[in-house]
Amino acid sequence: MKIGVAYYPEHWDRSLWEKDADRMLATGVKLVRLAEFAWCRLEPREGEFDFTWLDEAIALFAARGMEVVLCTPTSCPPMWLYEKHPEIVHVEKDGTPTRLGIRSHRCVSNPVFLRYADRITKKMALHYANEPAVVGWQIDNELEAYQCYCGHCIAGYREWLKAKYGTVENLNRAYGNVVWSGEYTSWTQITPPYGSLPHAWQNPAYMLDFYRFCSDNVVAFSNRQAAQLRRLCPGRPVTTNVWFCGHMPDFYRQFADLDFISYDNYPATRLPQDGESCYSHAFHLDMMRGVKRKPFWIMEQLSGGKGCWMPMEKPPQPGMIKGYALQAFAHGADTVVHFRWRTAAIGAEMHWHGLLDHSDVPGRRFEEFADLCRTAQTLSDVQGADIRSDVAILFGFENEYAFQIQPQTEGYYYLEQLQRLHRAFTALGLNVDVIGQHEPLEGYRIVCAPEMYVASPGVSERLTAFADQGGTVILTARSGVKDAHNNACMSQLPGVYRQLAGVHAVEYVPIGWDSIPLQFEDGTRLDARQWCDVLEPDTAQVLARYAGDYFAGAAAVTKNRYGKGTVYYIGTVGTQPVYDRIAAGAAEEAALPMIPGLPERVELCTRTKGESTVRFLFNNDQQPKRFTLEGQEMTLAPFEMKILRG
Ligand code: GAL
Repeated sequence: MKIGVAYYPEHWDRSLWEKDADRMLATGVKLVRLAEFAWCRLEPREGEFDFTWLDEAIALFAARGMEVVLCTPTSCPPMWLYEKHPEIVHVEKDGTPTRLGIRSHRCVSNPVFLRYADRITKKMALHYANEPAVVGWQIDNELEAYQCYCGHCIAGYREWLKAKYGTVENLNRAYGNVVWSGEYTSWTQITPPYGSLPHAWQNPAYMLDFYRFCSDNVVAFSNRQAAQLRRLCPGRPVTTNVWFCGHMPDFYRQFADLDFISYDNYPATRLPQDGESCYSHAFHLDMMRGVKRKPFWIMEQLSGGKGCWMPMEKPPQPGMIKGYALQAFAHGADTVVHFRWRTAAIGAEMHWHGLLDHSDVPGRRFEEFADLCRTAQTLSDVQGADIRSDVAILFGFENEYAFQIQPQTEGYYYLEQLQRLHRAFTALGLNVDVIGQHEPLEGYRIVCAPEMYVASPGVSERLTAFADQGGTVILTARSGVKDAHNNACMSQLPGVYRQLAGVHAVEYVPIGWDSIPLQFEDGTRLDARQWCDVLEPDTAQVLARYAGDYFAGAAAVTKNRYGKGTVYYIGTVGTQPVYDRIAAGAAEEAALPMIPGLPERVELCTRTKGESTVRFLFNNDQQPKRFTLEGQEMTLAPFEMKILRG
C-alpha cells in the first residue's frame, strides 16, 4: 500500500527540493503528485514551453525510487491567456463573467480554452511518455459541474436538448411546458435557468435536464483529456480527483471511461457530538469504492489543520493522521496521497496545513505520518484485495439533483437515510457497498434502495427480480414519486414499487422539524421525523405504526414477502434506532455474519484476497474503547486501527 504526498516544487526555493526528496525517502513516501496548478510555469508565455524545472524535480524523486503522478494544469490557466482571451471565463447566472483572483475561473466548454488546454495536455503527455517514474495522470483538479451561463454553454445546452428530444414539441410535452405558458416554439427561446432561488419556482423537469447537461459537460471535458493522455502517453492509468461538493458531476458517468477513482478526503478534526454522523467518513469511502467497484485512491488526504477557506480549525488530533489513512485502506483505497508535504508559505492556502509546518521542523503530525508510512509498508498483502459485501445501498445522482431542485420538507436531505442505513449495517461489523443504482445486484443478500425518487430505466425491474429470487430489499418513502423527466407519477405511492412493498400510501404528511412517536409491535417507541407516509398494507405486515397526530394508528413501517424474498418499507425518516432495528432484523434473517456488540464509533472492515482475509478494526473516536471481539479482549486507543490477519 502506498503513501504519497502532494508537492509543489514551483513554490519552493530549489535549495529545498533535494532536502525534501531525501526526507520523503527517509520517511517512506512512495509517490509524489505534481503540477496541478503550474500552467504559468509550464507555458510561461504563449507557445513557449518549459518543462526543465519539472524534469529536474521528477529526476530527484525518480533517483530515490519514488513514483510520480502528474496532473494536467488546466484548472489554472495563466494570466496571459486570460488577457488575450477574456472570453474563456466562466459566466455567472446574472451574466457577469467570473472575476479573476482565485482559481478555476475557466469554462470547460469554451472552444478557445479547450484549444489551449488540449495543447498543454498534449505537450505534457508527449514530454513524459518515456519517463518511467510517471505512473499515472490526474486530469485537472476537482472538476465540478458548475452551471456556466456563457454563450457556448447556452448553445451547448440547446444542442444537448435537440439530441435528446428532436423537436421542441417533444420537449414541451416532456417538460409540461403548458404550465405558465412556457411552451417553446423554437430552440432559440431556450435558455439555462436564470430564475432566482428557490429552484422550486422553476420547472423541475427543465431543471433536472440542466443539471444533467452540466454534469455531461464536465464529463466530456475529462474524457477529452483522458483520450489525449492515453494516446500520447500510453500505459499510464488516468483519473481525476473528486469530492462531495455542491456541484457534483455524476461520478458514475464521470469515471466510466477513466481508469480509477480518486477522492479528496478531509474528515472533520472536531468529532460530531451526536454520534449519528460519526460513520460518514466510512460512508464516503464506501461510496467512492462503489463508483467503479474497484480499489481507489485518496488523492488528497488530511494532513494538518484546515484554514484559509474558513477561519483556522483544530489540527488533526493525535491518531487521526495515521488512523484516517488506514481507514481509507480498510475501505478499499490502495494509495493515499497526503495534501500536502509542506504548509505553503505563500499564496491563499498558507493556513491549510501540510505535514510539515512553516518552520520546517518535523513535529507531532509529521512523526505520526512517518509511523503511517512504516505501517503501510507492512500491508502489501492487502494491495488489490477485494471487499466482499453482502449489503449494498443504491445511490443515484438524478435523485440527488432532483432533491436539490425540490426540497421535500424542512430538514430533509437525500443522503441522510442512505447514511443511516449504512451506519446501521456498518455497526454490525458488515462490509457495505454504496453503488450506483444501475449496477448489477447479483451476489448481494440485502439491497437498500432508499428514496428511489426519480425513475431510471430498469431499476425497479431489477429490484423486483432481486426480491423475487430471494433477496431482501429495503425501500423508503419518496420512492416511485417521479418519472424519468422529474414529473410526478399519477399513481398511489410508492408507485412502481407498490407491488414489491405490498403497501400504499393513502396520504403523505411532510412534518419538517416536528417529530411523531412510532410504536413497534413489541411496544418499543422511537421517533418519526420529517416525512410520514400514511400507509395501508396490501399484502405487507405492519412493523410500526404512528402513535401521534391525526393519522395515529396508521402503518409507518412494513415488511412484505415478495417471491422468495423480503421487502421492508420505511414510510418515514426515522431516528437512527429505527434503521438499526430493521438492519439487525434483516441481517439476522439473511444469516449474515454479524459481529454484535461493537462499541459505537468502532468500525470493522474485511478485505479478502484468495483464501486470506485481513480485518481492519478502527476506533473513530477520541475515547479509548475496550470490548470483546469473538471472545477476545480488545482495546483500541483513540483513532487506533488494529489490523487482524486470519
Ligand atoms: C482541495 C483542493 C486542493 C486544496 C485543498 C485544501 O479541495 O483540491 O487544491 O485547495 O482542497 O484547500
